[in-house]
Amino acid sequence: MPKPTAPSPIVFGDLNPSPRLLLGPGPINADPRVQRAMSMPLIGQFDPEFTAYMDETMALLRQLYQTSNRWSFLIDGTARAGIEAILVSLIEPGDRVLVPIFGRFGHLLSEIATRCGAEVSTIETEWGTVFEPDAIEAEVKRVRPKLLAVVHGDTSTTMAQPLSDLGDICRRYDCLLYVDATATLGGIDFPVDAWQIDAASAGLQKCLSGPPGSAPVTFNERVERLVTRRRHVEAGLRPAGFVPPDGPRIRSNYFDLPMLMDYWGEAHLNHHTEAASMLYAARECARIVLRDGLAETFARHALASQALVAGLEAMGLEVFGDKPHKMANVTGVHIPDGIPGDKVRAALLNDFGIEIGTSFGALHGRIWRIGTMGYNCRKQNVLICLGALEAVLRRAGLALPAGAAVEAAYAVYAGVSSSAA
Ligand SMILES: Cc1ncc(COP(=O)(O)O)c(C=O)c1O
Repeated sequence: MPKPTAPSPIVFGDLNPSPRLLLGPGPINADPRVQRAMSMPLIGQFDPEFTAYMDETMALLRQLYQTSNRWSFLIDGTARAGIEAILVSLIEPGDRVLVPIFGRFGHLLSEIATRCGAEVSTIETEWGTVFEPDAIEAEVKRVRPKLLAVVHGDTSTTMAQPLSDLGDICRRYDCLLYVDATATLGGIDFPVDAWQIDAASAGLQKCLSGPPGSAPVTFNERVERLVTRRRHVEAGLRPAGFVPPDGPRIRSNYFDLPMLMDYWGEAHLNHHTEAASMLYAARECARIVLRDGLAETFARHALASQALVAGLEAMGLEVFGDKPHKMANVTGVHIPDGIPGDKVRAALLNDFGIEIGTSFGALHGRIWRIGTMGYNCRKQNVLICLGALEAVLRRAGLALPAGAAVEAAYAVYAGVSSSAA
């Protein structure tokens, strides 16, 4: 009998992604310093050098979140891993949760809270608008939720919900406040303690100039007290005499905040294997923002937004949504009548290597979304994007004043010191 021949291995080609300028709603191009940090040698998760990096990362996250919360650490996973860890650890089946929805990510909070067994109430406002604090207060008063869960900047609509009054409202009605700051941390002011936010989570791939895959979270003692009622130690690790508290067991092992506190705290009790390269990345992301300065970084994002809007309007395009509540780091723009939105995006990608986004649901095909955040939030990218968009739109048949967009953006930057750009 002829010997069977082993099939040839299928190994595919070398990874060789095309150079792209990522000006969509995230991810963005990671800062090369972050990529360098990710290539540092791996060491063991209980090596004292590594646990010192964990402590440093916690200290950096506190500054980024403008909080004194002891518990400020990373959840391994994309931004929604941070959302899930907080919600699954806080919500006990039957708890009332209120979610004000002004875009796709409010729906995500509602969906995750429902999966955690919450009785979820929602209020909705038209996409492109945000809520008045009074409207949220009226609903908190009516529903009396244990938790108010709200998105800060919803990238799907490019709107930022004002938050400064919500903490006070929640305290008055004995409710906790959780905020999804995935798309705003490091780009728009987000002072957790000053705004009395009880818990918050984020991701690296927007204003923090990192890759997706790590979710910085923070939470205060009010949250700590509630979740430690549900503390559990796995059988293989349990110290003799450990008596579990009387709260119901958290339904996820991976996202169990008290277990993660045991892991990130002095005991460094074994849980998952920390995603070391992502920790290096998150640490570097935070260092970059803090070294540049929080106020300076927020100002850089606001200026880029102003310049981009000026350029788009000079082309005769209309910015989407309620302008005073527009996020500084993502801009929505109406696709002009008769212009094939997806073809324009494809031309930007294929001819210029620039990625911009469309949106979801009812906004799909109606708006483009342009992100200027983190490492990509720079004058040169605003000018490149406007120049390229103008060229593509002119080829698509739109009569535009040549050069007006770039000139308008230049005018916004004129007079501002180059370090702010
Ligand atoms: C506001 C907001 N929340 C949550 C997410 C989900 O993040 P991830 O895809 O990293 O899980 C995103 C992603 O765009 C977002 O913009």
